[in-house]
This record gives sequence, structure tokens and C-alpha cells, in this order.
Amino acid sequence: MNFPFVLKRTACPRVESLTTDAGEWLKIARQRLTGVEQPGLEAQLILGSVLQLPRAAVLAHLERRLTPGQLEQLAQLVNRRANGEPLPYLLEHWEFFGLDLVVTPAVLIPRPETELLVEEALAWLKQHPSRRQAADVGVGSGAISAALATHIPDLRICATDHSRPALRVAQENMRRLGLTDRVSLLEMDLLSACRGPFDLVAANLPYIPSKRLVDLQVARFEPADALDGGNDGLRLIERLLAAAPRWLAPDGQMLLEIEAGQGESAPALARKIFPYAEVDLKTDLAGLPRLLRIVN
Ligand SMILES: C[S@@+](CC[C@H](N)C(=O)[O-])C[C@H]1O[C@@H](n2cnc3c(N)ncnc32)[C@H](O)[C@@H]1O
Repeated sequence: MNFPFVLKRTACPRVESLTTDAGEWLKIARQRLTGVEQPGLEAQLILGSVLQLPRAAVLAHLERRLTPGQLEQLAQLVNRRANGEPLPYLLEHWEFFGLDLVVTPAVLIPRPETELLVEEALAWLKQHPSRRQAADVGVGSGAISAALATHIPDLRICATDHSRPALRVAQENMRRLGLTDRVSLLEMDLLSACRGPFDLVAANLPYIPSKRLVDLQVARFEPADALDGGNDGLRLIERLLAAAPRWLAPDGQMLLEIEAGQGESAPALARKIFPYAEVDLKTDLAGLPRLLRIVN
């Protein structure tokens, strides 16, 4: 442990000297977190998670005394963060599409870019009220399934992952959100053991080319299995596309999150496998292609 404040204080035997107030701790933590983008905000969130209070409540009582136990816990969290571990893993939850989701290092931290896929899927489902069988391939934390099932109350989703630890996290999220009766979580490779066909197939599969992973900060902490898309990043997407004609219902829609650099290769692959389908790309707010859409 090398959090300066605690190190200094633990050298002192008196219990009182181990305590400090929240305001003082926040100042010290902010200095320790200079390497992160928003050190002040992150320090407040970390403190809130240990005190089990919302940030506003933490800030309303900066004179609150912290116990030695809390200081010890805080020191560990700040050290982990200073070492590069993503904040959501420390807080053990994260927001996606307005939902509070449990996250652990067994799952990819849900990203804002995946909200594009959710928005497209919701728009299509609302326009097609009789199409209510969906699949979410590589469910991870359950972010996509949770958002879709929350907004479309009669939607049924077959959500798969080949990682059992990830499925446990997804299960916990569906339980908390009251979605277990409509989201079936199944351990398998892609959709291999599912009963289709599906009106909607959504997938945010790993798409980062393997050789790029070594340089990526996220790969130090997030499961490689959730990131590694093989040589060109399209290994899993290609396998899913190859199997998809069997799983996608006539006039069904498939939505696949891709990397911006795959704006040509991913649609080319889809057109080869679905020569008669409508294939297009959706762009994010920066105008980058991030979503491949196939209408069967
Ligand atoms: C990029 S993460 C996406 C997680 C979540 N859907 C999201 O959007 O936040 C990809 C997920 O696909 C799963 N996965 C990777 N290969 C798979 C395969 N062959 N079959 C099923 N799931 C797979 C990983 O375990 C991981 O949970």
C-alpha cells in the first residue's frame, strides 16, 4: 500500500490519527489520481462507493469523519485506480443506456458506443411490433439485452456467451432488473445451440485485431476474450455471419457493432454471405461507421 496519507498515518499508533474527514481525503486522493482524466470526480465516486452514498450526499458532508477501516479500503481502491484499473471495476457497477449494471473483471465494461446498436434495435422493434424474438450474441454483462428488454416489454431474448463467469454477471443484472423471465442466458459458442430463427440478432462480439491488443490499456484489465477479434478483428463476426442465414428469420434484422476501421471489410463480408440482403452501415456522432446492419 503506498497511498501517502494512510502510509503516513499508519505509522502513528493512535486510532484518532488514522481518521480524517472526507474533504481532506478527497484533496489527497485527487493528487494521487493525477494520471486520470477527471481525478476530482473519480475520487468522489470512489469515496461514495465506500460510504455507500450518492456523490451528492458525499459532497454535502465533507466534514464527515472517515474510520480507519474506510481509509484502508479507500487506499486500496485509489492505488488500484492509480495503477490503471478501470473505475467501473472498482465501483463494481456502471451505467449503460440509463441502467445501473453490475460489472466485474469477468465482463467487458459496457461502452457508450454500444448505445448506437441499442437505439437502432429499439427503433426497428418499435416499427415491427410483431417481431419479438431476439438474440444477443456475446451477452457479457447483459448490457444490450437489459436495455432492449427494459424498453420493449414483450421482447424475448436468447442471450449467449461462451464465458460462464460473464453469464453469472449477466444473470445478476437480469435478476436485479426483473428480466429473468424474458432473457434466457445460455452458455454456448455464438448461437450454435439456440432455437431460432430470430427476428433480430444483435451482437457486440470482440473485434479488435489481436496485434493491436498488446498496446491497449484496456487489454490489461478487461477479458481478452471480450476484445480479441483475431488477425483482422473480424474472426468472430465472420463466423457469426456464416452461420446467420440459419438463425435470421425472413425480413429479420442483424445488427453488429464493428470497429471504425472495418467500414469496408465488414459490409463486404456481409454482402458475400447475404447476396440478396440489404446491407448498410450506421455511423456514430463523429461520423465513424460503428454498426453493420443486415436486413434479410
Ligand atoms: C465485446 S464483449 C460484449 C459484451 C456486451 N454484449 C456488451 O456489449 O457490453 C464480447 C462478448 O462476447 C463473448 N464471446 C467471445 N467469443 C464468443 C463465442 N465464440 N461465443 C459466444 N460468446 C463469445 C465474450 O465472452 C464477451 O462477453
